[in-house]
Amino acid sequence: MQAFVNTAVDAARKAGNIIIRQFGQLDRIKVQTKARNEFVTHVDQQAEDAIIETIRQRYPDHSFLGEENGNIEGADKDHVWIIDPLDGTTNFIHGFPVFCVSIALQIKGRLSAAVIYDPTRDELFTAARGEGAVLDGRRIRVSKQRELQGSLIATGFPYRSSANYLDTYLKMFTGVMGVAAGVRRPGAAALDLAYVAAGRVDGFWEFGLKPWDIAAGVLLIREAGGIVSPIYDGDDYMESGNLMAGTPKVHDELKALLNTHTK
Ligand code: IPD
Ligand code: CA
Ligand code: CA
Repeated sequence: MQAFVNTAVDAARKAGNIIIRQFGQLDRIKVQTKARNEFVTHVDQQAEDAIIETIRQRYPDHSFLGEENGNIEGADKDHVWIIDPLDGTTNFIHGFPVFCVSIALQIKGRLSAAVIYDPTRDELFTAARGEGAVLDGRRIRVSKQRELQGSLIATGFPYRSSANYLDTYLKMFTGVMGVAAGVRRPGAAALDLAYVAAGRVDGFWEFGLKPWDIAAGVLLIREAGGIVSPIYDGDDYMESGNLMAGTPKVHDELKALLNTHTK
């Protein structure tokens, strides 16, 4: 498994270099609008191409699901790399230094390897199934926080396709704010999940995420001893994108609170 992680690390660092180089020249970035509030730049595309090329050099038959290139079926359909080359594009475009690269490998449908790389802080989060989660060479665990009171919770606002959850979300937000010590909306979901794994925040929830936003972060949190689940039980969060996470105790309390509000 480590060989897969190492490949993902090389790919993520290459993408990170492409992103950081151009972060210094933001006036040259061409922004295209894919849909309302959905932006893409040539940096997203270049970074994803570099990731796929790096992985293909070692695993020419593997398959890919990338935000920019969609599904690419290789001869080997059991190995699928799920890629968000630049998570936090809106931040990136504005010069707000919170974004990351997210790469996960699914083997026969099971999340098996994960890398999230933050190029502004040069922080590398990695995980391999059954082998734990690591930040820059040191093992990480979710925090020891046992209740929502006093916790720090990360979230993302519903502002695109998930905007129809806005009323429900705002009620949830009011509820969480009334109990937690703080709520943060940093703007890069993959990094939010890495921060749950590293114990920097105690819980997380967001509606309408995509597989590439969450695949790597889910494995990181599981390997760090945390819990990931759909906001509403019975749902498949890889499909709905409605996902929550946290330390075991915070997760359960947060779930109960969120579930007092249904759509
Ligand atoms: C977005 C970020 C953001 C989240 C959005 C995502 P992108 O990804 O993760 O935090 O709220 O739902 O789409 O478009 O910057 O890769
Ligand atoms: Ca994303
Ligand atoms: Ca992206």
